[in-house]
Amino acid sequence: MNDRDIQLDEQGRLRHLLTIEGLKRQVLTDILDYAENFASAGNQTVKKVPLLRSKTIANLFFEASTRTRTTFELAAKRLSADVLNVNIDTSSTVKGESLLDMLRNLEAMHCDMFVVRHNRSGAAHFIARHVAPHISVINGGDGSHAHPTQAMLDMFTIRRHKGDFTRLRIAIVGDILHSRVARSQIHALTTLGVPEVRVVGPHTLIPQEAAQLGVHVYHDMEAGLRDCDVVIMLRLQRERMSGALLPSEQEYFQCYGLTPAKLALAKPDAIVMHPGPINRGVEMASEVADGPQSVILEQVTNGIAVRMAVMAMTLGRHRGQDSEEAAS
Ligand code: NCD
Repeated sequence: MNDRDIQLDEQGRLRHLLTIEGLKRQVLTDILDYAENFASAGNQTVKKVPLLRSKTIANLFFEASTRTRTTFELAAKRLSADVLNVNIDTSSTVKGESLLDMLRNLEAMHCDMFVVRHNRSGAAHFIARHVAPHISVINGGDGSHAHPTQAMLDMFTIRRHKGDFTRLRIAIVGDILHSRVARSQIHALTTLGVPEVRVVGPHTLIPQEAAQLGVHVYHDMEAGLRDCDVVIMLRLQRERMSGALLPSEQEYFQCYGLTPAKLALAKPDAIVMHPGPINRGVEMASEVADGPQSVILEQVTNGIAVRMAVMAMTLGRHRGQDSEEAAS
């Protein structure tokens, strides 16, 4: 699928963020650079900037989420936008209203952006194809397809620790098959010029097409971790598994759980990442999750700055015209 056209406006500016696939390196670097401004703002007493004042952002989360939804909400509030959290469980879609009718109603309330999470791959694209021209759509995770803002906050975290992407060896470990995070990370890492991306996991959890994505496949964790600069651990997505893809959680931990001994095979200054939520003792030992090489909570903090950057870039495309409004 070529999403370049739908994600960019006629001037080539980012209108929606639905997937990393197809975006140019410059677009990714612009997001990371822009996010730097907001990363320092988070530490100051005045956290808010007026960039999206008078804009309304609707969070449409059709699937469970804590981190992603709350950091999108905080990001929107720190940009001075109004935020609407639509409670899908009690919304009229339960009463049979179609998704498109729901969107039309939110458009009638003058919403400017939809942040969408859905368990069906392609849901955010579907919505983006049906919204009014002034509306931007951000994909907050669709099925096992894409989770672009998670990938960008991971890139931001990696760049802060490691600087240059073009010298790195990075391992993504675990349930690659069901992971929208891994797919978006692989596109982002290869686009940013990382020369060696490895995926590590059992045969049953590595997709057939992995090698075509330009990554190296490892089934032996020790070999996969050796000399890595960054180790990204993924959760076992049990809710997306049908049938028995795995032996037991204990056996999985034996083979693919990150312990201090296995981490010692990576470079001594390697960082350990995880998009959350963590299953302690399944994909990772607590000593590692809470240890000195873990940057897992930094990822959460960085998620706010990166989401601010994405929202400000997509909704602020016409800022030339309404900068007076923003400044007043
Ligand atoms: C991820 C997701 O929902 O795709 N988590 C997240 O966004 N923080 C990964 C996961 O659920 O394991």
